Formats: sequence, structure tokens, C-alpha cells
Amino acid sequence: KPVLTYPGGEYPMTIAQAAEGNDGIDLGKLLASTGYTTYDPGFVNTASTKSAITYIDGEEGILRYRGYPIEQLADNSTFIEVSYLLIYGELPTQDQLEDFTDKIRRHTLLHEDLKRFFDGFPRNAHPMPVLSSAVNALSAYYQDSLDPRDPEQVELSTIRLLAKLPTIAAYSYKKSVGQPFLYPDNSLSLVENFLRMTFGFPAEPYQVDPEIAAALDMLLILHADHEQNCSTSTVRLVGSSDANLFTSVSGGINALWGPLHGGANQAVLEMLDGILAAGGDVKEFIRKVKNKEDGVKLMGFGHRVYRNYDPRAAIAKKHADTILSKLGSDPLFDIAQALEEAALTDDYFVERKLYPNVDFYTGVIYKAMGFPTRMFTVLFAMGRLPGWIAHWREMHSEAIKIGRPRQIYTGYGARDYSEI
Ligand code: MLT
Repeated sequence: KPVLTYPGGEYPMTIAQAAEGNDGIDLGKLLASTGYTTYDPGFVNTASTKSAITYIDGEEGILRYRGYPIEQLADNSTFIEVSYLLIYGELPTQDQLEDFTDKIRRHTLLHEDLKRFFDGFPRNAHPMPVLSSAVNALSAYYQDSLDPRDPEQVELSTIRLLAKLPTIAAYSYKKSVGQPFLYPDNSLSLVENFLRMTFGFPAEPYQVDPEIAAALDMLLILHADHEQNCSTSTVRLVGSSDANLFTSVSGGINALWGPLHGGANQAVLEMLDGILAAGGDVKEFIRKVKNKEDGVKLMGFGHRVYRNYDPRAAIAKKHADTILSKLGSDPLFDIAQALEEAALTDDYFVERKLYPNVDFYTGVIYKAMGFPTRMFTVLFAMGRLPGWIAHWREMHSEAIKIGRPRQIYTGYGARDYSEI
């Protein structure tokens, strides 16, 4: 008979007593107030879930994919290798890598009819709904790879998605700026190809800068997975109904679009722009944050899981230094660094364990690379894709139940219509 405890002490009853509704105690409220959660296979996709893909220790600021520290992967691997690691569980051998890369190369083209689908969107469309719609439309074009229970079809849809998402992402951008689409050039790597399709023009040579390509590749690695975040759990929930991989990932893209999730680095850049426009006084900004003045918030600080420095932020910061020293300094990076220093030496932030998260530095880097803010979440989606696929596949590798969140009913008791 375990006795329930809550932050204020010990709850005066056992779980069994609470469940019987003794003393008019509302079990739902009790569980919610104590943060007590149950593990129930019926709620596997929503209440809690098992996974062998990504490990996070929020107290220590540790992130590992399949056991490998993110720092080592960012320094030594490519995004394609990390995608393989997340999806199949091991880093690829040379042969496996060549085979995987070749397969992806063969699927980068979009069906000509699917390309016309982009014409239906307004010229000023944000690239995210265009991206998620086109990814969902893959279910209509590739009906031979929709069955989540057929390993060959799952493999084919995995390769198709990995290959086509950068093409769709580049076309979503081209659509939003009114420029013509480019066919993929399969002599290039995945990231080089994406950069060329995004910034190049048909019939004009486009020289991919290898340092920019390497930095973008590394940023995609940082975003490749983050266990049960909002978009990943969305992909799992949609997929738990046995919906196909394309449509499940499309759901994840929509979840990612929200400013509280993938849109956060855009919010950071807007905050830095605002500080610069107001004269660049970081101390004054920090004062306003602490006093909650003018609704001012410190964006890109704090995380639901980390009570320490987000390890991805440290890596992004290091690379921001390198990229900006190559592409030209940006006053926004100076403000970001000053802001970080001011916050990390201030008891207010230290006591609340508010540290920079991954979004704090990525926007500055993307801007330096030439991406408009509307593309930031698209880049996040490209990075997160292997994580979504890995989770969807992991879930389908076992017998699953459809996801269904537990509801705690808070409405009326029974009411009688005749008493109105
Ligand atoms: C992510 O990478 O998905 C974000 O840090 C959000 C999260 O993990 O909840």
C-alpha cells in the first residue's frame, strides 16, 4: 500500500483509498497535483512511453542518440550517418552507408504532377503548410508504400521521405519567393543538393560553399531527435492508428510549426532584433524580463527537460562563432552572447535554472547562411525527420494499441433536460 506524497508532504491516504473516492477526494486532481503518473500500455503513446532511441538527462545536460553523445556525433558524423543510426540503431558500415546514400539519391525527384500542386498555394504562403501538405500528398502519389505492417513498404516510404523532403522544402521556399524550381542534382550530397535547389537558379552554375554545407549538416544532426517532444509524440499518436508514414510525418510538421516548438528560434531572432532596434541595451532588457515589464520575455532560455545548459546550444554557439567569422559578423550574435552572459551571472536566472536552449543560437546562424526566418522551422523539420521516422518505426515494430490520452473529467455531473 504505497502512500502518496506530494511536494507539501504525505497525502493522507493510500492509492487504494483514493481510488475508492474516500473522503470525497478527486483521484484525478490528486494524481495531477502530485505529478504522479501511471504506466499503462493502453496509454503508451500519450501518458508515457518506452523508447530505445534517444536518452536525455535534463539535470546533467546530457543528450545521446542510441547511446552516442551528441557532441561526438556532431564532430564526427554526417547527417546521413546519424539518420541511419537513429532509424536502424547502429552507425552504418562503409558499405551500408553507400547503399543507403545511393537509395536516397535515386528518390530525390518529385512527380511532375506533385510539382504542380505547389501552384495552388498563394505566392505569400508560409513554407510550413506547403511542406506539410506536400508531404501528406505523398500518400496519394506513392500508394505502394503505405502499409505500416509491411516491412518492405515501410522501408520504401522511409527512403522516399528522406530523399524527397529536402526537395519539397526547397520548393516550398522557391514558391514563397516566386522563383522557379530546380531539379535535384544527384552528384551532390543531400545538404549540398538542398542548398543548390534553395539558392540556385536553373541553367546558372551554383557553387555550394563546403563550410556552409558542413555547418548546416551539423545543425541538422543537432535537431535529429529529442525523444518525446510535441512533434514526435504527434507522429507517434497519428501513426498509432496505423496511419501511413507520410501522413504521420505531415502531422508532426504541423505540430512543429507552432512558436512554442520549432518556431522558437524565429522568436529568438525577433527578440534580438528588438533589442538592437531599442539601442542594444542588454542590461535594460534583462531588468524588464525580471520585472515582467511590457510583456518582455527572454526567448530561447529554459526548456521543459533541461535544468542545465542544453548541450545542443553549446555546440550551436561554437559553430556560430566559426560561421560568422567567415560570413561577416552580426550584431545580433554579439547581443545574444551579451544576453547569455548577463543571464548566467544573474541569480534570478541561475536560481530558476534557466539556460540557453538550442533555439538561442540557431536563428543567428541560419540568418548568416541567407535563410529568411520563415525557413527556420522548415530546416528544423528536415533535421527532425529521421527522429520522427525512427519513433514511428520503433512503435510499429511492436504490437501497439491506438493512442488515447487519459481524460480527467471536470464538467457537470448528470443533468436533467426536463429541469431547464
Ligand atoms: C525539441 O528539440 O524538440 C525541443 O527542444 C522541444 C522538446 O524537446 O520538447
